[in-house]
Amino acid sequence: MQVLGIDIGGSGIKGAPVDIEKGEMLRERYRIPTPQPAKPKAVAKTVAEIAKYFEWEGPIGCGFPSVVQQGVTRTAANVHTSWIGTDAAKLFSEVTGCPVNAINDADAAGLAEMTFGAGQNRMGVVLLVTIGTGLGTSIFTNGILLPNTELGHIEIDCEEAELMASDAIRKQENLSWKKWGKRLDIYLDHLEKLVWPDLIILGGGVSKKHEKFMPYLNVQAEIVIAETFNQAGIIGAALAGKPF
Ligand code: BGC
Repeated sequence: MQVLGIDIGGSGIKGAPVDIEKGEMLRERYRIPTPQPAKPKAVAKTVAEIAKYFEWEGPIGCGFPSVVQQGVTRTAANVHTSWIGTDAAKLFSEVTGCPVNAINDADAAGLAEMTFGAGQNRMGVVLLVTIGTGLGTSIFTNGILLPNTELGHIEIDCEEAELMASDAIRKQENLSWKKWGKRLDIYLDHLEKLVWPDLIILGGGVSKKHEKFMPYLNVQAEIVIAETFNQAGIIGAALAGKPF
């Protein structure tokens, strides 16, 4: 089955048709910079543009960087506050004329990794952390997702983890890999003490440069790098867009 996967991020909105049985993108992804301010109407217009680019008429799945309950966005850490309480699934469905399901972006990446990547056939507790503008988390117990965990916002020494260890902060503060790696280690250590994962999967663009920061990570759990890298957001969103 083919589903159009769309990954909505703070800087870009990317989409591609996906074969959800194989976990493969069927066309090269199409990216449009996220409109600023990233308000619902403007983002919806961009989502419609992506669907139009692929002349799409089937189901769509969207990954969104906030808590998403039954299609409704509930938080807005890195997007415009007017998203809070917006029925994103309904809005995107209206502008595209297609059935749409929306899901948290880290949960989408987690679905992709559990189905086609490093989490395949993994039982126990798997924690995926996507490192980008924000810190996104998804947790699976014996392959079942606990949605909207939002562990990027835990506080460590009175500071929000996302404001300490995201990739955006690494760039903003021009941190060395060692300094940032140590911060990431403190964060993962806290997560480990909270949820005791058997496996931690690190995703997001920066995970491609894993050899630069992995030496500073000392968690007890097995820790691996996501296999689907940048495609996880699109493939996972498509998985979530499969009609019931
Ligand atoms: C948001 C999460 C999102 C993560 C990664 C955080 O700021 O609260 O919902 O998954 O960023 O985009």
